[in-house]
Amino acid sequence: MVRSLTIIGIGALCAVVGVASASAAEGEDESRPGDAAAGRVLASKTCIACHGEDGNSLMAGYPHIAGQSARYLFRQMQLMRDGNRDPGDMLGQLDNMTDQDLRDMAAFYASQTGRVGQASPDGIELGEAIYRGGIVAKQVAACTACHAPDGSGNALAGFPGLSGQTAEYVVEQLKAYREGQRTTDAGDFEGMMRHTVANLTDTEIAAVANYVLGLH
Ligand code: HEC
Ligand code: HEC
Repeated sequence: MVRSLTIIGIGALCAVVGVASASAAEGEDESRPGDAAAGRVLASKTCIACHGEDGNSLMAGYPHIAGQSARYLFRQMQLMRDGNRDPGDMLGQLDNMTDQDLRDMAAFYASQTGRVGQASPDGIELGEAIYRGGIVAKQVAACTACHAPDGSGNALAGFPGLSGQTAEYVVEQLKAYREGQRTTDAGDFEGMMRHTVANLTDTEIAAVANYVLGLH
């Protein structure tokens, strides 16, 4: 009994070492695409507690990441891991993860299906008007131009989808851009979110956040 356990133990060890060296070799190729199956395994360890099993989070303040563009997810994780986006309650979750780990998890969540919520009728017209047309007098650009009429975003350009995103999270992020606490739209994105929301009031932010909750 003891002997056969030892043999199994050594066999398992060899398998683990084999896998480890294979992934180290692959990790050197920066362009290897994300592996959703590997990402699912990684995500099942800790992310699941806040983002749910498939990336549809169970708590209002925690963002849905199911069905989000892999390119967007990968970049945000890099920014949080490297200290360029305040990770909030996610502090420490991405420490010691490689770019390949992030790419794999991004591929996994992108392959899942996002849930859409139920918007409240309160302020829905205001929210829709801002989303579709912006507020010309205040130089607020229409959200639909970049986040698409159905809220699916623009995966190729790395513009995130907003469809079904939790209203609490959207409010928090729009205020963070407005106050200059979130600056992840720097560089290629030329500060486009900070410009867009600079003149939005709290009421307007709440209205557009409620609207995207039900948008699809
Ligand atoms: C303790 C709860 C918690 C855990 C565990 C957690 N997250 Fe998060 N996650 C958050 C919160 C809260 C945010 C929003 C941060 C902010 O306030 O900007 C977030 C944001 C994100 C975002 C950016 C979403 C967006 O729309 O920009 C990604 C991607 C993400 N998490 C992936 C992960 C992955 C992958 C793991 C596991 C390695 C993980 N999270 C573990 C709470 C958590
Ligand atoms: C010119 C293009 C553009 C316009 C117009 C625009 N956005 Fe964005 N939006 C972006 C880009 C690009 C990002 C990602 C930036 C980053 O990495 O921080 C983003 C990010 C966001 C996020 C954060 C998503 C997340 O998962 O954390 C929210 C929320 C958002 N936009 C809402 C809006 C709303 C509401 C409007 C209209 C009032 C709007 N956006 C108008 C391009 C745009």
